[in-house]
Amino acid sequence: MEIVVLPDSESVAEFSANIVVELMRKKPAAVLGLATGSTPIALYQHLVERYRSEDVSFSEVVTFNLDEYLGLDPSNPQSYRSFMNSQLFDHVDIDLRNTHLPHCEEAQNPRKVGAAYEREISHAGGIDLQILGIGANGHIGFNEPTSSLRSRTRVKTLTERTVQDNSRLFKPHEAQPQLAMTMGIATILEARQLVLMATGESKAHSVRQAIEGPLSAMCPASALQLHENVVFILDEDAACELEGLAYYRWAHAKNQLLVGQHGYFDEGLTSLDVG
Ligand code: PGA
Repeated sequence: MEIVVLPDSESVAEFSANIVVELMRKKPAAVLGLATGSTPIALYQHLVERYRSEDVSFSEVVTFNLDEYLGLDPSNPQSYRSFMNSQLFDHVDIDLRNTHLPHCEEAQNPRKVGAAYEREISHAGGIDLQILGIGANGHIGFNEPTSSLRSRTRVKTLTERTVQDNSRLFKPHEAQPQLAMTMGIATILEARQLVLMATGESKAHSVRQAIEGPLSAMCPASALQLHENVVFILDEDAACELEGLAYYRWAHAKNQLLVGQHGYFDEGLTSLDVG
């Protein structure tokens, strides 16, 4: 694991965007795993700017999102499809047919939809780089505490805490879904590179549990300890409870010497395991 602690949320977004752009330059048909929520919005703004300045093209990129609410039509402004369109897809040259979210129609069997999503990821060659946020309760995607560490794409019931945390995004008259279809923890762990972004003090506890706590289904993000290429990109507030902070800063400074020379991905797209 590499733990990168940066001064503020803007630097977190910029650092994350640099990793995504590096991958897209080395592999124009990269398969990106994307996340929703407040945290990656600034990352998507950076990617749109980089596209506008002709630094990078999405024309061959394929994307798979972590999750989607159950019971919301993709055209609903609260759906994660709408979020992705308005935050990223509408502003870049991506082919919308290459963008995927685990949407399940009311008449569909969620088990079949989950299995089909897994097959689509696998047909695309697997995910090269998965972007993740983290819940205040340690969730990744909508894998809430007690999610099996071997879980696959399926329906999860959101915890009260998550529903409460996300209620800020819903207007009083809007119904807030309490079920979602999400990639499983095993699905996430199969991505070749993971980038977890966390900002703000409300994430400090779950970030600490994920990095320094025991491997436990009670903190789904702790499963990232099993992955060989994971970078946690944190602002000072999200990192404030970490006990090993001094070491992480020191190691990151050393790692940057290596990354500066070789980048995060080598030509064969094996990520550089510097953590
Ligand atoms: P947030 O959500 O970025 O809106 O804080 C992250 C998450 O719940 O995964």
